[in-house]
Amino acid sequence: MTQSAKGICILGAGGHGRVVADIAELCGYSDIEFVDARWPGQSENLAWKVVGRSFENSSQGFERFVALNTNGLRLKLVQEMVAAGISMPTLVHPFASVSKHAKLGMGCVVMAGAVVNAGAVLGHGVIVNTSASVDHDCVIGDGVHISPGAHLGGDVEVGAESWIGLGASVREGIHIGTRCMVAAGAVVITPLESGVRVQGVPARVVARAD
Ligand SMILES: CC(C)(COP(=O)(O)OP(=O)(O)OC[C@H]1O[C@@H](n2cnc3c(N)ncnc32)[C@H](O)[C@@H]1OP(=O)(O)O)[C@@H](O)C(=O)NCCC(=O)NCCS
Repeated sequence: MTQSAKGICILGAGGHGRVVADIAELCGYSDIEFVDARWPGQSENLAWKVVGRSFENSSQGFERFVALNTNGLRLKLVQEMVAAGISMPTLVHPFASVSKHAKLGMGCVVMAGAVVNAGAVLGHGVIVNTSASVDHDCVIGDGVHISPGAHLGGDVEVGAESWIGLGASVREGIHIGTRCMVAAGAVVITPLESGVRVQGVPARVVARAD
């Protein structure tokens, strides 16, 4: 890598990783590589090389980014890096709108068309996927995934590792516990205790963690 080049090693050479790499490129990373447990079976990911199984195989001087869409695993790896004092970038697509009055933790990605409004606070390792929105003063826990086209009204709280599915909506001021699953298209109008799966309009609990 030359002195002016910016390198990033992305863990997770799947579809989510490809989108993250695309955003990294748009954010000015000129050298991009992947690591993935499927190496050496998988040695390429579109235009990019897979160079090994873990960050131990990453090129010297490259920053690191965890691009796994399994919330628990992504968060575990991000937390390990935070604990080891390894900083990670947060990647924001140039066509996303993130308020300068929002706070984003390390290792977050905000994808094309997404909006994060003023006063919102996102933890570490959060995914705000394509065209999703996080309105004013929302508090989003570590390792949350807000799927494409999902919308959170203002002052919504989402606990760590919860997953808000494709196109779901959450009414303003609602509290969602940790490790919840909000199914695609659901409309959440009442608070959710931790560990529940909800679906439908209005959203009803269909499963609970043991
Ligand atoms: C909720 C979800 C996890 C259920 O998946 P699953 O466990 O494989 O469930 P199945 O597809 O087997 O469906 C089980 C039942 O739930 C119903 N169901 C599934 N998803 C539903 C949804 N989003 N809303 C309402 N009902 C749903 C099915 O119709 C089926 O009903 P039935 O038993 O009466 O026939 C899944 O449908 C979903 O919404 N995933 C989120 C996808 C997403 O956001 N992806 C983001 C990619 S970036």
